[in-house]
Amino acid sequence: MALYREVAGRIQQQIDSGLFSFGERLPGVRKLSQSMDVSVSTVVQAQRLLEDNGVIAARPRSGFYVCQPSMPETTLPAAGLSAAQPVPVTTGEVTLFLGQLSQQKECAQLGFAIPHTDFLPMRALQKSLSSAVRQFDERAAGYTSPGGNEALKQQIARRMRFAGSEVDTEDILITGGAQEALTLALRSIAEPGDVIAIESPTYYGLLQAVESLGMKAIEVATDPVEGISLPALEMAARQWPVKACLLMPNFQNPLGAKLSDDNKEKIIGLAERFDFMLIEDDIYGELSQTDQRPRSLHSYDDCGRVIYYSSFSKTVSPG
Ligand SMILES: Cc1ncc(COP(=O)(O)O)c(C=O)c1O
Repeated sequence: MALYREVAGRIQQQIDSGLFSFGERLPGVRKLSQSMDVSVSTVVQAQRLLEDNGVIAARPRSGFYVCQPSMPETTLPAAGLSAAQPVPVTTGEVTLFLGQLSQQKECAQLGFAIPHTDFLPMRALQKSLSSAVRQFDERAAGYTSPGGNEALKQQIARRMRFAGSEVDTEDILITGGAQEALTLALRSIAEPGDVIAIESPTYYGLLQAVESLGMKAIEVATDPVEGISLPALEMAARQWPVKACLLMPNFQNPLGAKLSDDNKEKIIGLAERFDFMLIEDDIYGELSQTDQRPRSLHSYDDCGRVIYYSSFSKTVSPG
């Protein structure tokens, strides 16, 4: 085997074993040539090979960085099915089961979407928290105005423009996370016994909210790529007095599906035609793997059909 291929194999091994992780800079050419006891030109050739294979990438005037490993091919999960009729929701068993699984170390924890601590910007958080306490004195620990801190609302309104949504700060309400926002949204538009259309499958916390408010759920088939089925939602709305549809248009939990822009527009039309509200959970909208985050469903709403909520629990930190 050519020497440069062997060297590329050794660097690849170091990456695979975690010595250099995703996003990290590889040592310079000279350092590598010394540590591997080969010539500089052999290292350069090995780096070229790794670059061609998508293992590392060059950044101008900075060197080579480890690329994100490509995902193994997987088969998509099956689409969820629509239910024949609305039913009261009972989540007790599922929640208990998930709780038990979370204690088992040998299980990959896919039931709860908890960001790994490695992803949390701890340094930046520490800095911001201590400067807030210094800057605001005892006000930092006091009550804020009922709808939430005005400066925070301004930042959120600015941020929502990235999702294509234009909002005034007076239309924003600060809550303790997405779960509280969801419960408030449901309570503001529906009553016990009302029918709520939900994606199938969906995040169990959404089911818990519907259950706790004594509402009924009708499951609507949801595809792992396309998202909620519009024909199935239309059929449910024709047959039942659907009060609201609760959905995650961007990166649905658990399927990861994203509704196309075209379908986002169409679903607003459907809500208008059958007179129901849309509650948009956009908690994963900012976790796009491309630079451009997808547009919110809310950004297509020109008739006041969408209540939008999100949270910083998956992007800044759950706490
Ligand atoms: C889709 C979805 N919505 C809401 C939540 C709850 O978010 P929070 O922790 O901000 O209440 C989660 C948490 O996993 C979630 O996956």
